[in-house]
Amino acid sequence: MRKLTNILVTGGAGFIGSNFIHYLFKDTDFDGRIINMDSLTYAGNPENLTEIDENFGGSRFFFEKADIRDYDAAEAVFKKYDVDTVIHFAAESHVDRSIFGPKDFIDTNISGTFSLLEIARSFWENRDNVLFHHISTDEVFGSLGDTGFFYENTPYDPRSPYSASKASSDHLVRAYNHTYGLPVTLSNCSNNYGPYQFPEKLIPVMIMNIKEEKPLPVYGDGKNIRDWLYVNDHNSAVWAIVNSGKTGETYNIGGENEWENIKLVNVLCEKMAVFLNKDKEYYKKLITYVKDRPGHDRRYAINCDKIKKELGWKQSVDFNAGLERTVQWYLQNQDWIDHVRSGDYRNWIEKNYSGR
Ligand code: NAD
Ligand code: TYD
Repeated sequence: MRKLTNILVTGGAGFIGSNFIHYLFKDTDFDGRIINMDSLTYAGNPENLTEIDENFGGSRFFFEKADIRDYDAAEAVFKKYDVDTVIHFAAESHVDRSIFGPKDFIDTNISGTFSLLEIARSFWENRDNVLFHHISTDEVFGSLGDTGFFYENTPYDPRSPYSASKASSDHLVRAYNHTYGLPVTLSNCSNNYGPYQFPEKLIPVMIMNIKEEKPLPVYGDGKNIRDWLYVNDHNSAVWAIVNSGKTGETYNIGGENEWENIKLVNVLCEKMAVFLNKDKEYYKKLITYVKDRPGHDRRYAINCDKIKKELGWKQSVDFNAGLERTVQWYLQNQDWIDHVRSGDYRNWIEKNYSGR
């Protein structure tokens, strides 16, 4: 087990990062400090952490509004808190946005990661008990046909600006380990779902549109396949890696839970019908096939035997229960939805998706 004391979480105001911070305080016995460094883009919402801030703010939880691309600002955070562990979630994360505007993805995901690596390399020179954990995605491996899985050693074949920028950052992290000996670990995870996911990704878009009885936009023929994992199962895997993962190694994390988009949307209609006491067929009639995403990857599927065998991790949330928990969370948190939507979300969707 590594000794972790002052953990810098980047992107902790986003979907997975904020769930990770909740997870650390509620589900682990970690007793050190957590510093959330986030520049609060459209996807970063400090409200996600209100409860943590009220209970631990100023003692074990700290928020620093800073951009990972700003070397001086990020270095000051390393120094102020004597950071010994970085868990790097911060990124531009949405494939559709990367298609319409790739520049932010290159800047944050590649240059931002490079800048953090440079700070870690200099700040941790000659220090033991330090670790840079990089959070990545299965999308770096490309697209699968009907069969097969992504393994840790599957050659990279990214196809969207998002996945290409993540692939590039993965390579940089490995290069810093290989060339400079920076202690790193990496993880490549499949699609996450759960509370606090920004309403631009498939599951929250569908939940909200079903609730508001709006068209449910399914891209292309709806037969693209994703492997879904409940967000806290991702977080428990990351926690296992930063505690016990082998330095320099990469671990795949997945749900072993493949769904065609159209089947998943139908299940959401059925679940929402039960919660809202409506006719499921009425909701299913809202399904609208729209123009496909350019370069849309067909199928992702992760083999995660390595982390299971080596670190004893396994998924704990069954998809049925996880989806119900997620639907309930969105139904019970209308204020959160209103707040994130009042930002740039609506304008962006209108600008880029009108006429689809
Ligand atoms: P998100 O978009 O919800 O959150 C990203 C966070 O990063 C936001 O809080 C944002 O403000 C912050 N951020 C963006 N640019 C920044 C910058 N330049 N400086 C500082 N902060 C910045 O993303 P997410 O879905 O929580 O994804 C988190 C990480 O997990 C990403 O690295 C993503 O590639 C990876 N990942 C996501 C999924 C998924 O299904 N969502 C799956 C696998 C891997
Ligand atoms: P998304 O949640 O954007 O994740 P990713 O592209 O990173 O896998 O999309 C998941 C799948 O759902 C993907 O195949 C695209 C599809 N999709 C739709 O059909 N309609 C939508 O409105 C969205 C957001 C996604």
